[in-house]
Amino acid sequence: MMTTACGRKCGLRAAAIGAHGAERGAATPRGLRRKLHNAGERAAALRAVKSEGTELEPAVNLWSAAFPSASEALPHQGITGSVLKALEEEVLDNGEGINALRRFNDALVRLAERDDWERIMEPVWSEMAFNLESFNPVFTACMLKVQCTIGSTNYEARDRCLQRLIQPLAGEYGLHAGEPLDKTHRELFSEWYSSVTGRPLSHILDNPTLKPIDGQQLFARMMSDVSNGGGLSDPVAQASYALGYNLAVEYLAHPEKTWLLESFQRFSAERLEPCGRHVAWKFLEVHALGEEEHAAIGHEAVTVFVPESHAAHVRQAMRDHDRDFAIYYNALADLIDVTQ
Ligand SMILES: [Fe+2]
Ligand SMILES: [Fe+2]
Repeated sequence: MMTTACGRKCGLRAAAIGAHGAERGAATPRGLRRKLHNAGERAAALRAVKSEGTELEPAVNLWSAAFPSASEALPHQGITGSVLKALEEEVLDNGEGINALRRFNDALVRLAERDDWERIMEPVWSEMAFNLESFNPVFTACMLKVQCTIGSTNYEARDRCLQRLIQPLAGEYGLHAGEPLDKTHRELFSEWYSSVTGRPLSHILDNPTLKPIDGQQLFARMMSDVSNGGGLSDPVAQASYALGYNLAVEYLAHPEKTWLLESFQRFSAERLEPCGRHVAWKFLEVHALGEEEHAAIGHEAVTVFVPESHAAHVRQAMRDHDRDFAIYYNALADLIDVTQ
């Protein structure tokens, strides 16, 4: 059984923190700039991560083989991949969300300098436990918006889109086509939390003083935006907005999880491993790889369904989520920024 508190600096090396600081100028974590179209390599890498552990089954679909081509003709002029990629770069790669993620991850690594890091991290664990599950009802709301265009949109385009929305959501519950039931998001998160803190997740979830206030506010904003279809009146326009929103969530989840993995690897080397704590990396590793695949699927969900004339709705959804995602991560950075 690991100890619950280190109580000493555990061989902290200031040089390593400095090395991280030197990387702060980097726009994104390692891997973010990888091309999204290389789905086969991504799927193989994810299978390797999932199968290398003792408990996890290889469990990812080769989605590019499972789905019909996204380039199949739409019944209308659809938004093109190049237009959508330009929107991703304009709104998300250069948005407020990335800056907030950078601030949070810098603060997380600096936290290794503090002996009281476990106390400081408790509200962040509470926020992450809630927030990272709160995207699932948002994904469901996005799917509902597409389904509710029944009678107004082409059946085949609608169902090709829905196939792409359902797969990432199913994976959160350990469901992968043709595979045995896998561990759920909650189970993997719980293993990660317990390996770092030495406590069961109930220590956070059952603590009435640890309300995930910022995560709940983000959840309310996400559900309001998607449920109201961005304030648009036409059901198809609302669905286009929801698909832009879904893509924004998945697109930002990639740097979010990749950065979190890298920051925790640094934190572990500085603060946990010297204390004999061994992090259960599966949650972070699977998400760091999987979210890139989800972003690619979310991209295709837009291109198989959204009319070109609705590009502004997609852009608005991306901006709405980027803004609220940034508010959330700046709030998390405030919780752990020991330089404030
Ligand atoms: Fe998850
Ligand atoms: Fe995802």
